[in-house]
Formats: sequence, structure tokens, C-alpha cells
Amino acid sequence: MLDKCRIIDFPRISDPRGKLSFLESRNHIPFDIRRIYYLYDVPSGSRRGAHAHKNLHQLIIAMSGSFDVLLDDGFEKKSLHLTHPFQGLYVCPLIWRVLENFSPGSVCLVLASELYDERDYYRDYDEFLSAVANKV
Ligand code: TYD
Repeated sequence: MLDKCRIIDFPRISDPRGKLSFLESRNHIPFDIRRIYYLYDVPSGSRRGAHAHKNLHQLIIAMSGSFDVLLDDGFEKKSLHLTHPFQGLYVCPLIWRVLENFSPGSVCLVLASELYDERDYYRDYDEFLSAVANKV
């Protein structure tokens, strides 16, 4: 499962006026975007996330500053450092994720495949592990 989570590079257009990146549903990311949310003014030392989704696909972008994303599929873990606004981390369903080490002033943009639905969350790690174990 962790292999499905990957960094996606967006097109970059640079000229003397500055840089522009863009992404299109299905062309650059493997889902249609139905929701956008963002984290900002994150206090130093704060941890966000610490949950998994049942069906939601997401793309996480460090629009400004940097932070770490810890990914865990119930078997393996990996940590990625996001710092470029021209890259996004695709996270498929059934991945426990924790976001931490936010730099001051950083902004984390998240593109999501579905509207907000609390029923789509695993917020308890043991419940997540049981769900993963039942799928294999
Ligand atoms: P939470 O899931 O705790 O954020 P994190 O990504 O750090 O785990 O969400 C914080 C609150 O915001 C919680 O009450 C749910 C609410 N929320 C929405 O209403 N809509 C959304 O799209 C999101 C992501 C969260």
C-alpha cells in the first residue's frame, strides 16, 4: 500500500514574473477533487492528522514552508519531508498519516476526493490496524 503513496511533480512554468504550477484532476493526480482544505498558523511542535481514511484519496502540498508526513499502512512506515510547492504527496485510502515539524508560517494544502465525512475516518490506531488486517 505504501508504494501507492508517491510524490507527484506538477508542471512548472517560470518566467521573469515568477513561477506558476498547476494540476488537473485525473491528468496530474489520480482522482477528481471534491474538497480543498488547508492548515496554517500551526504552532511549533504541533502534530496534525493521526488518522486514516476508509475511501478518501488525498494530495498534500507544502504551499509554503515545510513539514514532515509520516505514512503507515499497518505494515511499513515511511517519512517524507515536503517543502516544494511544485510537488504533492498522493495518499491513498487506508494509510495512517501524521503531519509534524511544521516550519514557522508554513501552509499545508490538501486536495481531497470526497466531501468531509467523519464516518470515513479511522481516528483510533488499533481500529485502523484491525481494519487493515481484515483486508489482507
Ligand atoms: P482534524 O481531522 O482534527 O484535522 P487534522 O487534519 O489535523 O486531523 O479536523 C479538525 C476539525 O475540522 C474537526 O472538527 C473536523 C473539521 N473538519 C471539517 O469540518 N471539514 C474538513 O474538511 C476537515 C478536514 C476537517
